[in-house]
Amino acid sequence: MTYLQKMLKKVEAIRKKSIVNILAIESSCDETSVAVVQNGRKVLSNIISSQIEIHRHFGGVVPEVASRNHILNIIPLVEQALTSANLTYDDIDCIGVTQGAGLVGALLVGLTTAKALSYALNKPLIAVNHIKGHIAANYLAFPDLVPPFMCLITSGGHTAIVKVDDYNTLTKIGSTQDDAIGEAFDKVARILGLEYPGGAKIDKISQNVEPTIKFTHQDSLLNSYDISYSGLKTAVINYVHKLEQNSQFVDVPQIAASFQHQAVTMIAEKTVRACVEFGQNKLVLAGGVAANSYLRKTLTNMCKEKEIKLYFPPMEFCTDNAAMIGSVAYYQMLKEPPADLDISALASIEIK
Ligand code: KG4
Ligand code: ZN
Repeated sequence: MTYLQKMLKKVEAIRKKSIVNILAIESSCDETSVAVVQNGRKVLSNIISSQIEIHRHFGGVVPEVASRNHILNIIPLVEQALTSANLTYDDIDCIGVTQGAGLVGALLVGLTTAKALSYALNKPLIAVNHIKGHIAANYLAFPDLVPPFMCLITSGGHTAIVKVDDYNTLTKIGSTQDDAIGEAFDKVARILGLEYPGGAKIDKISQNVEPTIKFTHQDSLLNSYDISYSGLKTAVINYVHKLEQNSQFVDVPQIAASFQHQAVTMIAEKTVRACVEFGQNKLVLAGGVAANSYLRKTLTNMCKEKEIKLYFPPMEFCTDNAAMIGSVAYYQMLKEPPADLDISALASIEIK
């Protein structure tokens, strides 16, 4: 019997169990994380080692440095995750791992570790789409949340409005045609001299600032569910450069707040319009920018007006973590075959 045939048989048996523990690994960017998740909903442990301090020095994530640090972190984190869950390898049913999207070298560290554990322990390997992970962060926080619902994915690498039809099926309604929202936040933060990762800094310095600047840019996607952030980002960059060239005062909090207002309003309006058009009365926020207080506030107000129930994950589940990968792995395992050992890391994955 081949490895895959053996794993298929195992998965059939695991599907009949009432308690399924998944050891999950995430290493797509600059967080190494290992978690143990029970039945897709209960976090038994979720250990995260952030490399922010290492990359801050360079003003952004250096892929090779990220990979090397994942290598140093990964095995101790697997051990910590098991200890913290009070479990041993024997209690684990499957190994879940992020296959993509992300930095290929970084992903490979998690993927290779997961493959080795799967092979050595004889436990099925479940390869997970990172974006589905961000959505699933909400399953961990809200036990009653079940699909279908509308979801706004706002991360450093992705911005999309998707309809979550069921645990394993997404329908893309619209997505960014260029920069992701988090990327735009980070690039604007950089031009304003704010430290990496700049998104959260923009949020912080914009608190209690009434936005007054209107950055003008062409938006050919106004009536579409697709979105572009490069026009707004360039408008902010040109605005700052002009002030600097004329030796004028750069009002960093005001520019940050005005950018944030425009960036958030653009996507929030489209998302709420999509909920109404597609008849969805539940909206779920996902991804790192879901931590943004202005986005949360804006959507809370817009959703109240349209009687849409809004869910946003707690801060610890907004940014990258392995618990969200463990949740996806559980629902995927119930419906789909496990992965073979020849799968590769994927730099990008199309949201279908
Ligand atoms: O989802 P995530 O951890 O990484 C990807 O999978 O891409 O998101 C990271 C992004 C970064 O761009 C970061 O600046 C942004 O989320 N971010 C924020 C906030 N907290 C994190 N952006 C705006 N406001 C925040 N409070
Ligand atoms: Zn992420």
